[in-house]
Amino acid sequence: MTDIRNRKADHIELALKPMHQSQQTAGFDRLCFEPNPLPQIALNDIELQSEFLGQLVSAPFLIGAMTGGCENGELINQHLAEAAEASQIPLALGSQRAALEQHKQQDIRRWAPSAIILSNLGATQLQQSGLDLARKAVESVQANALIIHLNPLQELIQPNGDRDWNLVLEAIENCVSKLGVPIIVKEVGSGIGPTSAKKLMDVGVNWIEVAGRGGTSWASIELERNGSERERDIAAPFIDWGMDTVELLPAVHSACPSLGLIGSGGVRHGLDIARCIRLGATMTALAYPFLAPALRSTEAVIDKISVLQEQLRWAMFLTGSKSLSELRHAALQQKLTI
Ligand code: FNR
Repeated sequence: MTDIRNRKADHIELALKPMHQSQQTAGFDRLCFEPNPLPQIALNDIELQSEFLGQLVSAPFLIGAMTGGCENGELINQHLAEAAEASQIPLALGSQRAALEQHKQQDIRRWAPSAIILSNLGATQLQQSGLDLARKAVESVQANALIIHLNPLQELIQPNGDRDWNLVLEAIENCVSKLGVPIIVKEVGSGIGPTSAKKLMDVGVNWIEVAGRGGTSWASIELERNGSERERDIAAPFIDWGMDTVELLPAVHSACPSLGLIGSGGVRHGLDIARCIRLGATMTALAYPFLAPALRSTEAVIDKISVLQEQLRWAMFLTGSKSLSELRHAALQQKLTI
């Protein structure tokens, strides 16, 4: 148990280091909007409000999953939850496994009584402990939905990580049919591609968070934590494993047009959020960009949210998009090949 708490504390410390951002970009720089110097709209008339899980949110992004149970995590969660409440932005919690195994109170609702809160568990925990754990995760924070994370590469590199991934899809299907709240399935930085997205859709999953390559690199973080030279040797070629967020979004969107799609993995500012929306995402999620503000204060997180909102509004203004549905059809620049 203490191991899990130490691991989470390590993760926060290491994730802050810029060296653990992927050496590959998420591909956002390759996607340029055609500038529209005749926007024919007023900046203040631009509407960012959107609907997510049947509730209105102030903009189409959420605070990505980071912390569930460690001492530092509690303060981070307080700052994130208070900011989510004040700014009407959903908050995804990090894995609740440690907190649940320790029967720890997770009273996140005292800071965020009305914000959308997303529970979080790893897929292999469900395969081991089933529906019960999922129910506890959701009930303990009165969550609006459960996120199940898929992280096979991270588990391979992590000392003592889970290496038996049998019956994971069946465990997800069981949650979908019996849990009674929406299920969102996400990766952690290698991406969910169209083939897996289809399998998930076929068992009833309605939401996918792609979490593609190009942002926080869990391979890199776990490599730093793994002291075994042999395991580090084996893992080395997989450091950039995955697909870019910019490739994944259109691929999953065209393979599974009815899926709710959350663009994530390397989303760093409001222009990237606009790019995700243009590529078919309904929502976007950012983890790393919220980590440093979350360590500081609630106000720092609120400021970060407001900067992201303003950047998204600028991107919409500069493409002449008054609404998110207009942004979905904004003209893209053809990159010159000469
Ligand atoms: C994460 N991430 C994560 N994801 C998850 O589903 N459960 C978790 O417990 C965690 N823990 C975690 C801790 C920290 C410190 C970070 C930075 C991230 C992964 C996260 O939600 C996201 O998918 C990836 O980090 C990619 O997004 P960014 O960081 O590039 O925006």
